[in-house]
Amino acid sequence: MSVAIITGCSGLIGSEASKFFHAQGFDVVGIDNNMREYFFGHDGSVIWNTRALKNSLPRFVHYSSDIRNRESMRTIFRKYGKSISVVIHAAAQPSHDWAAKEPITDFEVNAMGTLILLEAVREYCPDAPFIFTSTNKVYGDTPNFLPLIEAKTRWEIDESHPFFEHGIDESMTIDNSKHSVFGASKVAADVMTQEYGRYFGVKTGVFRGGCLTGPAHSGAKLHGFLAYLIKCVVTGTPYTIFGYKGKQVRDNIHSNDLVRAFWSFYQQPRCGAVYNIGGGRYSNCSVLEAIKIAQEVAGEELSYSLSDDAREGDHIWWVSDTRRFQNDYPEWQYEYDLPMIIGEIVEATKEKQPAELKYELLAA
Ligand SMILES: NC(=O)c1ccc[n+]([C@@H]2O[C@H](COP(=O)([O-])OP(=O)(O)OC[C@H]3O[C@@H](n4cnc5c(N)ncnc54)[C@H](O)[C@@H]3O)[C@@H](O)[C@H]2O)c1
Repeated sequence: MSVAIITGCSGLIGSEASKFFHAQGFDVVGIDNNMREYFFGHDGSVIWNTRALKNSLPRFVHYSSDIRNRESMRTIFRKYGKSISVVIHAAAQPSHDWAAKEPITDFEVNAMGTLILLEAVREYCPDAPFIFTSTNKVYGDTPNFLPLIEAKTRWEIDESHPFFEHGIDESMTIDNSKHSVFGASKVAADVMTQEYGRYFGVKTGVFRGGCLTGPAHSGAKLHGFLAYLIKCVVTGTPYTIFGYKGKQVRDNIHSNDLVRAFWSFYQQPRCGAVYNIGGGRYSNCSVLEAIKIAQEVAGEELSYSLSDDAREGDHIWWVSDTRRFQNDYPEWQYEYDLPMIIGEIVEATKEKQPAELKYELLAA
């Protein structure tokens, strides 16, 4: 028996990882207490996804346990012990805005929860690779001080800058910037994950994601920009763009592309590796550009307004340079570009019942 422990198994990345590693022959032990509903209300509930995993994956076991509870985590890790071949840690409080409401809860989930899991790996399955979904928010607002130029539909970086061709690499400092409370708790988890690799020799991989997206995203106002925007396009719900005239650029990577990157890492793990991972130059857009594509694909018009209030710590321009990962794992390639990603989310959203979508939007 080869076990994959996947935290946040019912969220976007955790569910994709659960399906993928199950298909590779693993017994999947998923941990998710639906805390996403506590963060984002009914709109963010992932119960539907837990149910879908249980129904479709015969070797999937679900624990509705809290990663902050050290004894619960130790009990699970002790039970599966050395048969644990990989741990994918995707449980998190994932929103900037929410973190400021309850900084202690945010830190306990993101930082302390990660430490509890790292310690459980060290105690019960020290040979298992530990894959952590970090975020580009660990760089704080430093990217906003790059030489950015306003173009018609987006911000762009000056062509003469070394980041122009491939995006931002891991050499950018994570220190001395405004991170938001969320970014700071993720820094703590990111650095601790690196430390368990460097200090204790655990095979840890830190993946600093740009915008991660896919049809399994329970898009909520405060998290999951593409999924929420598309939900508004499909249902005719007014949408507000916060700051930067809608020209802020994000890179978008499909959850399946990300999980295949985890698979590459699992097969040839390293200790304390850190990778920027996102759509890169291959798949990025401004909010205005995303609206245009989503309208075309969905065949609907979005009514939107611009607010001057940018989100604290929001990036004006982010494109990940993924070459470090691609150099280490040259077999990995993107399979989804932006129109494919948007097309798939539009389809998934349209398949939901109108009443269900309306209720989700009202509850957001
Ligand atoms: N989605 C993005 O755009 C994005 C971008 C960069 C980084 N990330 C990171 O990737 C990871 C996964 O993100 P996602 O989009 O899949 O998030 P998600 O919210 O869809 O999934 C996270 C899951 O963790 C669960 N969870 C939260 N707290 C928990 C707790 N205390 N105990 C057990 N389960 C708990 C939630 O119920 C949820 O199902 C997170 O670490 C996030 O910070 C996401």
